Amino acid sequence: MSDNKVILNYDGKAFEYPIIDSTLGEKGIDISKLRDQTGLITLDRGFKNTGSTISTITYLDGDKGELFYRGYPIEQIAEKSNFTEVMYLLLNGNLPTQAEYTNFENGIKKYNYIAEEMKKIIDVFPRSAHPMGVLSSLTSALTAFNPKAVNVAVKEDLDHAAEMMIAKFAHLCAWTYRKTQGLPLNHGDNSLNYVENFYRMAFRKPNEDFVMDKVVVDALDKLLILHADHEQNCSTSTVRMVGSAHTGLFASISAGVSALWGPLHGGANQAVIEMLEMIEKDGGDVAKYVAKAKDKNDSFRLMGFGHRVYKNFDPRARIIKKAADDILNALGIHDKALDIAMQLEKVALEDDYFVERKLYPNVDFYSGIIYRALGIPTEMFTVMFALGRLPGWISQWKEMRLLGDPIGRPRQVYQGYTPRDYVSIENR
Ligand code: COA
Repeated sequence: MSDNKVILNYDGKAFEYPIIDSTLGEKGIDISKLRDQTGLITLDRGFKNTGSTISTITYLDGDKGELFYRGYPIEQIAEKSNFTEVMYLLLNGNLPTQAEYTNFENGIKKYNYIAEEMKKIIDVFPRSAHPMGVLSSLTSALTAFNPKAVNVAVKEDLDHAAEMMIAKFAHLCAWTYRKTQGLPLNHGDNSLNYVENFYRMAFRKPNEDFVMDKVVVDALDKLLILHADHEQNCSTSTVRMVGSAHTGLFASISAGVSALWGPLHGGANQAVIEMLEMIEKDGGDVAKYVAKAKDKNDSFRLMGFGHRVYKNFDPRARIIKKAADDILNALGIHDKALDIAMQLEKVALEDDYFVERKLYPNVDFYSGIIYRALGIPTEMFTVMFALGRLPGWISQWKEMRLLGDPIGRPRQVYQGYTPRDYVSIENR
C-alpha cells in the first residue's frame, strides 16, 4: 500500500485501487473496478467494512464515542438547538438564519393536515395491530394521495417534498397511537411548534382541555434530536437502497420504518423496557440476567447494550441518561425499571465479558425509560424513534438522489448446487 492507493496481488498480477479521502475517520478503498479487473468480488456480511456511499451529513467515531451532525457535536446540538432547527440542518447542511428557519417552519405548517380518506385506511386495522406495522402501511399509503414524483433536479420540489413528509409523518405517528387507544383522529394546529403540535395531536383527550407540559415537550424535543440521524444504519441504508431504484420518497421512508421496527435496531427501546419489566417481575435479580446474557447456550441478550459502531460508549446514551434523571425528578416519578437499569449498567460495566467485548449501554437503554415516564406506551417507543429519525432518512434519500448514486445491487458468493438436470416428479 502507498499513501493513496492499495495494491492487490492476485493470480500473478498486481492491481491498484485508489484510496478515497475523508475529512474525518476511515478512508475508503475504491474497488469499483475490482470485479472487472480481477473477476473477484468482496464478501462482507453485515457490511461491517463496507462504505456504501460518500456522505457529508453525519459523522460518528465509534472508538471515541463521538457524533456530529453536519460537523456540530451532538452534545452542543442537544443542549442548544431544537428539533426543527436540527431537521433544517440535516436537510440543508447549515444552521438556518432566522428567516430560513421561519420559512422552513412555515413550509411544514402548510402541510399540517392529512387527507380525510386516510382515516378510512387506519380504520380497518385491528386496534391490536403493532403501531410500527400501521405506521409503515400508512406511510406507503400517503403515496396514493401525493402521487407526483419528486423532481430532484428542482430544489423547490425537494424542499416541498421534505416539508410535506415531515408534516404528514407527525400525523401518522400520532394517529397510530390514537388508534391503539380508540381516540378520535386530530389534524395539526399551526399555532404550535412541531414538537408541541405532535404532542397535542397524539395525546389530546376528547373530554379534557389539553395542557402543554413544558417538561414533556423539552424531553420529546431532546429525544427526537438524539435520534435524528446516525449515518448508514440499517433503516437509513434501507431508505437509500429503496430510493436508489428511484422509488418515491414516501415509499422509501415506509421501507425505512419497517427496517427500524426490528429489535436489533429501533425496536430495541421497546425490548429494553420489556426486559426490565421481566427482571422486575422475576424478583429483580440483575446478576441472574447478566449471567444469562453471557451464557452462549442462552439466546438472551442484554437489550440496550452493545452497538455495531460505538465500541467505547454511545454519546447519546450519556446525554439521555442525564435527561432521564432530570425528567424523572421534574415529574416526581420513581421508576423501579430505572433502578434495575442502573443496577444492570453497573454490573455489566464491571464484568469482564462486557468490558472485553466493549458492550456499553446504547441510546435505547435510557430512551424507553423517558418515554415511559412521559406516559407513552411501550409499543409506541419505536414510533417515537421513527419520528426522530425521519429528517435523517429524508436527508440521506435526498443526498443519494443528488449524488446520482446508481441503483443498489450487491453481489454474492454462490455456494449452491452447480448446474444439474431437472428430474420429473415420478423419478425423484
Ligand atoms: N448482550 C450480551 N452479549 C452481547 C450483546 C448483548 N446485548 N451484544 C453483543 N454481545 C456479544 C455477542 O454475543 C458477541 O459475543 P462473542 O464475540 O463471544 O460471539 C459479541 O458481543 C459481539 O456481538 P455481535 O452481535 O457480533 O455485534 P454486532 O456489532 O453485530 O451487534 C448489536 C450489535 C447492537 C446488534 C448487538 O450488540 C445487540 O444485539 N444488542 C442488543 C440489541 C440492541 O440494544 N440494539 C440497539 C442498537 S442501537
